[in-house]
Amino acid sequence: MKTTWLLAALSLSVSAAAIAATDKEAQIVERIKPVGDVYLAGDEPVNTAPAGPRSGDQVYNAVCIACHSGAIPGAPVKGNADEWAPRLEKGLDALVSSAMNGLNAMPPQSAMASEEEIRAAIEFMSK
Ligand code: HEC
Repeated sequence: MKTTWLLAALSLSVSAAAIAATDKEAQIVERIKPVGDVYLAGDEPVNTAPAGPRSGDQVYNAVCIACHSGAIPGAPVKGNADEWAPRLEKGLDALVSSAMNGLNAMPPQSAMASEEEIRAAIEFMSK
């Protein structure tokens, strides 16, 4: 009889501890959730999705500048007509395709910008 009570009391306290642990876990998850999710009551969440295709200027400055500013040997430098002339002879479509799919030391840019944005960036860079 004594043992039964003891067991019952034990299992009660164990399950209470389990509930407390889940509760604590929920509190921790709530505390460490990304700040971006939190906004004051009454405020609209900020929409950070881009409104439309980025301009050539924007894409160049966000992506292509890493190599096409003169930092990487072989990458035609923005605004350098001599370096761009032989490239432009291939035609804009061929250049867009090179940038989308990659060419030698240039990794494919298709994950960084849309085809339309890459086309605009090439037009911006090659002038
Ligand atoms: C990691 C460095 C790197 C980045 C980032 C990069 N490029 Fe390049 N790019 C190169 C290199 C190197 C070449 C020269 C490749 C060759 O001719 O061997 C090149 C060549 C090119 C060419 C000439 C292709 C041809 O067919 O002659 C175009 C157009 C071009 N890049 C566009 C872009 C655009 C647009 C972006 C940004 C969206 C970009 N690149 C980002 C390194 C880069």
